[in-house]
Amino acid sequence: MQAATIRGRGKIIVLILFTGLITLFHFLIPTDQHSFHVLHIALRKLYFLPPVMAAAWYGIRGAVYVTLLTSFLFTLHAILDWPGNYMEQANQGGELVSFWVVGLVAGWLFSREQCHLRDLVQANEETLLGLVSALDMKEHNTNLHSQRVRQYTLLLADRFHLDEAEKKAIGFGALLHDVGKIAVPDHILLKSTPFTGEERRIMNEHPAVGYNIVNRIKFLRGAAEIVYAHHERFDGSGYPRGLKGKDIPFGARLFAVVDVYDALTSIRPYRTPVSHEEALAEIGKGSGGHFDPQVVEVFLTLPRQEFDAINAAVAADSMLSTL
Ligand SMILES: [Fe+2]
Repeated sequence: MQAATIRGRGKIIVLILFTGLITLFHFLIPTDQHSFHVLHIALRKLYFLPPVMAAAWYGIRGAVYVTLLTSFLFTLHAILDWPGNYMEQANQGGELVSFWVVGLVAGWLFSREQCHLRDLVQANEETLLGLVSALDMKEHNTNLHSQRVRQYTLLLADRFHLDEAEKKAIGFGALLHDVGKIAVPDHILLKSTPFTGEERRIMNEHPAVGYNIVNRIKFLRGAAEIVYAHHERFDGSGYPRGLKGKDIPFGARLFAVVDVYDALTSIRPYRTPVSHEEALAEIGKGSGGHFDPQVVEVFLTLPRQEFDAINAAVAADSMLSTL
C-alpha cells in the first residue's frame, strides 16, 4: 500500500478516535459536582479541535463533515443529559453555532492556503518547463524531448508501485536531466562531427553541473540525484562516477532506458528514427550492460498505445502553449 494512502487512513483514524474519546469522557464525566463540572465543560471545548484538524488535513469539505459529526454527538448530549432544561439546551445550542463558525472559517482558510500552494507548485513547474524547453529547442530543434522522457519515465515508474514523493522526484529528474548542458558551449553542444578528447571531457561534465544547479533547490533534491546519475550504466561503464548496479539511483536506472528509447524513436538530424519494435529490441540487447535487467523486463511489457498517447498529449500540450 502506498505511503500517502496509509497516511490518509491514519489521519481519518486519528480524527475518529479523538472525537470518540472526547464524546466518551464528555458523556461519562458527571455534572452534579462542581469540580467534575469544570472538567466536563473543558471537555466540551475540545469539540472545537476535530473540525480544525479536519480543515487542516482535508480543507472545507473535511471541516463540514467533521463539524456535522461533532454537532450530532453534541446535540445528543444536550438532549440526553439536560432533558427539559431549555435554558441549558439554549446555552449548548450557542456552543454548537461556535463549532460551525470555527469549522467553516478554518476550512475556508486552509482550502485557500491549499489553493495558493497548488498555484505555487504550478508556477514552479511552468518555470522549469520553460527552462528545459529552451534547452531542448537549442539542442534538438524541438521543445518536446524532456517532457516526453519525463512522461515515459513516470509511465515506467508506475509499474514499480513507488510512493508519490519518489515519483515526483523521478519526474523532475527526468525533466531536468540535461539542464547542466547550459554550461556546454554551443560549438560543442551543436557539433555534428565526433568530439575531440577535450570536447568530450567538457560534455561529460554536464551531469555534475546539472546536479549543482538542481541540488540548490530544496524541493528538487531527490531529482538532483537522478540528474547526477543519468549517464551511469548498470555495468559500471557510465559517467561521471562509474556507479554500478544498485548503486545507481533507481530513478536514473529507469530514466536510462527511457532516454535511449526516445533517442531511437525521435527524429534527429544525424539519423532517421527506428520503429517502436526495433527500439525495444535494441533496449533488450542492453539489458545487464547499459540497463538494469529488472527495469528492461518491465519496460518491454509496456503497451505501445501508452507511448503513443503520451507522445500525442505532449505534442498537443506544446501546440496549445505556443498559441
Ligand atoms: Fe545527458
